Amino acid sequence: MAALVQDEDVDANRNNTTTTTTNTTAKKKKSKKEDAEKKKGPTPAPKHTRKYGAPMTGYQLEHGAKLMAEDSPFASLNLKEAMKSGAAKGVRCRQHVNPLSQKFSAPSRTPDWAAIFKEPVKPMTIDVGCGGGRFPLAMAQRFRERNFLGVDVREALVERGEKWGEFAEVSENVAFAAGNCTVSLKPWLDDYNENNRDEKRRGKVELVCVQFPDPHFKRKHWKRRVVQKQMVDALASGLEEGARVFLQSDVKEVAEDMRDKFEKFGNGKFVVDESLHGNEEVIFEADAPDISDWEGEEHEGFVPTWYKKGWLKENPLGIPTEREVQTTNEGQPCFRVMLVRT
Ligand SMILES: C[S@@+](CC[C@H](N)C(=O)[O-])C[C@H]1O[C@@H](n2cnc3c(N)ncnc32)[C@H](O)[C@@H]1O
Repeated sequence: MAALVQDEDVDANRNNTTTTTTNTTAKKKKSKKEDAEKKKGPTPAPKHTRKYGAPMTGYQLEHGAKLMAEDSPFASLNLKEAMKSGAAKGVRCRQHVNPLSQKFSAPSRTPDWAAIFKEPVKPMTIDVGCGGGRFPLAMAQRFRERNFLGVDVREALVERGEKWGEFAEVSENVAFAAGNCTVSLKPWLDDYNENNRDEKRRGKVELVCVQFPDPHFKRKHWKRRVVQKQMVDALASGLEEGARVFLQSDVKEVAEDMRDKFEKFGNGKFVVDESLHGNEEVIFEADAPDISDWEGEEHEGFVPTWYKKGWLKENPLGIPTEREVQTTNEGQPCFRVMLVRT
């Protein structure tokens, strides 16, 4: 059975209260270490100190604290107050769930679109696998004229996201829903589009984000990755022309996998967004992906070409995700691509 681990934010808070007594010894050690490092010269860029799914280390707790700090990109969300009040504590939940398990194999209950947003007519962004939810919360704060739906398979995060929405005063235009996006997006979008026949409830999905999804490195676990043919089909049929799909990961192979699946299974209904990728100054080059590992039929006859459009250097949305903050703090690259529904 997978170990239960504590969310970063709980432990980050707890950590703050236990460090003061060891400060003097720590300072001495630190200055010796600094002297030694000066002699060695510049250190190489740090490697990711946390593997996906590994138990949290001291570094991770520090990352959780950084997300709560005054200079964090999420400071304006008022989440420190939420934590202090006890009304929206950190959560205990499994670090990883298996989206293929029976519990998650069926679509989750469709959100009541008219009830979850004050003005359901506003255009909506869906954040697939939203994690702690700071990205949709911060987007909702910056873009009041839009609605944001954060979806995660881990219910505890979704419940806490809702509470955080109240503290951040964005409950009117942000909502959270629990579900396995691979199987739920199709019925949800069908329902949303059905609702769109009613003028008073008219809105449209303008953006779907899949950011830093769990990589499931082992080949036998690739089927657990959130972007599958099923999801590409759902977005090809459920999104209107002009809607965008934003994909990013710190694991190049995972970013390639998502992008190539949209090219392979999108049936010509998606293209790389030229308005961004067409500007050479904002992209860095991507190599031709190695698709030889793809399973039999999926691979046959498919020649990926989208890699020629490169990766976006910066996040074009202007608001990072939690994992993105960690990645950039570590000096590691993110692999980003923006697609458009044609
Ligand atoms: C590595 S975290 C990234 C969270 C956030 N997007 C970020 O960039 O910080 C991946 C998240 O996706 C969620 N997840 C994994 N599979 C999912 C699925 N099939 N449907 C919805 N969420 C999923 C996990 O529970 C986890 O919170």
